[in-house]
Amino acid sequence: MTQRILLIVSGGIAAYKALELVRLLKGKGLAVRAVLTDAATKFVTPLSFGVLTEDHVYGDMFDLKEEREIGHIQLSREADLIVVAPATANILAKMASGIADDLAATVLLATDKPVLAVPAMNVRMWDHKATQRNLDTLRGDGIHVMEPDVGAMACNEWGKGRLPEPAAIVQEIERLLAEAPSPAALLTDTSRTIHAPDLSHANLLGRHVLVTAGPTHEPIDPVRYIANRSSGQQGFAIAAAAAQAGARVTLVAGPVSLPTPRGVTRVDVQTAREMQAAVEGALPADIAILVAAVADWRAADEAGQKIKKDGSGAPAPLALAENPDILATLARHIQRPALLVGFAAETETVVDHAIAKRQRKGADWIVANDVSGDVMGGSHNSVHLVTAQGVEDWPDMPKALVATRLIERISDELAAR
Ligand code: CTP
Repeated sequence: MTQRILLIVSGGIAAYKALELVRLLKGKGLAVRAVLTDAATKFVTPLSFGVLTEDHVYGDMFDLKEEREIGHIQLSREADLIVVAPATANILAKMASGIADDLAATVLLATDKPVLAVPAMNVRMWDHKATQRNLDTLRGDGIHVMEPDVGAMACNEWGKGRLPEPAAIVQEIERLLAEAPSPAALLTDTSRTIHAPDLSHANLLGRHVLVTAGPTHEPIDPVRYIANRSSGQQGFAIAAAAAQAGARVTLVAGPVSLPTPRGVTRVDVQTAREMQAAVEGALPADIAILVAAVADWRAADEAGQKIKKDGSGAPAPLALAENPDILATLARHIQRPALLVGFAAETETVVDHAIAKRQRKGADWIVANDVSGDVMGGSHNSVHLVTAQGVEDWPDMPKALVATRLIERISDELAAR
C-alpha cells in the first residue's frame, strides 16, 4: 500500500528545498500532500507544490470549500507521517504551546500520527533559549526532531540552523515509515486493529508498570565510558503499550535519544547504579519489565581527569567492578512486584541460557532474544517467552508488536491469578 506523507511547509528561506524533497519522495513511490503556511507562500508558490505532488495544495483553514471537501482532521487521518520541513522557530513555538491559528498548526494539534520536524533557521534563533526549550518540549511530546546542518546561512552568518539536505530528510522519513506503528497508532488506525492489544480484559487499568530500557553508560574518566549497542526501542515500545492498556507507567531510561511515549513518566539515568536507585525509588509496582541492557561492569575507580598516555606504549590499566544486578535485587526485594519480567540477550543456546537465567535471577518470566544479528538497534525482534510452565517461541515481528503481545500476555496472566 502506498504510504502517505503530509508535508507542512512553513515560511523560511529554505522552503524552496521542500520542492526537491517532494520530488525525491515521489521518486520513492510515496504519496505527498502539501500544506503551506501563509508565510511559506511568500517564498514558494502553491502551484509548484501542486504540480510536483499532483494533488491539491492546502493552505487556508477558512477556505470553506477545503473544509467541506477535506477537513483538518481528515488531512491528518489520511497520512502515515506528518513532516514539517522547513520548520521555522515560529511553527515550533506554536507546536510546543498548542497554538492552532492556521491550518498547518491546527493539523499538527489535531493529529495522532507520528510527526517529524525538520528545523531550519538563523543560528541565533536556533541557539535562543526559547527555541531550545520548545524543542525539549516537543521531543518530550514524542515529536521526532532532526538536527539542522551547520554551515553558511542566507544572512551571511555561519552556524547551526541550515535545513538538512533533502536526501538526508528522505532517509529519516524512510526510517520512521519502516518503524512499526506505535501501539497508539495501531489503536486509532482501524485498518490495522488486528494488532491492537486486546483490551477486553483491561486488567492493566490503573496498575503501576515499571519498565527499564536502553543501555547504561559507565564512566571511565570525564570523556570515556563503557556502553553497549542497546537502542532502547524495545523497552520504549513496551512502556507505550502498557500506557495504552491503561497502566500507570514509569520508564527508567538509560541514555537513548527516543521520545517519551505518550502518558509515560520517564526517569533518565546514566549508570547501572543510578538505574537501580531509580527503580527502587519507583516502587511499589505491580509489574516490572526489565528490558535495559545494563552494563555488567563499571570502572572500579572513575578518573577525575582524562587518562593520558604515559608515552611507554603500554595501555593504561582498567580495573573493573561488578554492577548491581537490578533484576536479581528486585526479585529479593521486600516490595517485589507481583510479576517480574526480565529480558535475556544471548548470542548462543538462547533458550537454555534463558531458562537458567530465570531461575538464577528469580524472575517470573524471561523474554529471551538472540542478539547475535542486528537486533540491538534494529526494529525487529524474535523472542522466546520462558515461564515456569515452559517456553513459547514467538515469530519474528516488529518490536512494537512484541511489546503489544507481551502486554496482552501480562493482562491474561493477571486475569488468571
Ligand atoms: N539486568 C539487570 N541488572 C544487571 C544486568 C542485567 O537488571 N546488572 C537485567 C536485564 O535488564 C535483563 C536481565 O537482567 O532483564 C538479563 O540481562 P542480560 O544482560 O541478558 O544478563 P546478564 O545478567 O548480563 O547475564 P550474562 O551476562 O551472564 O548473560
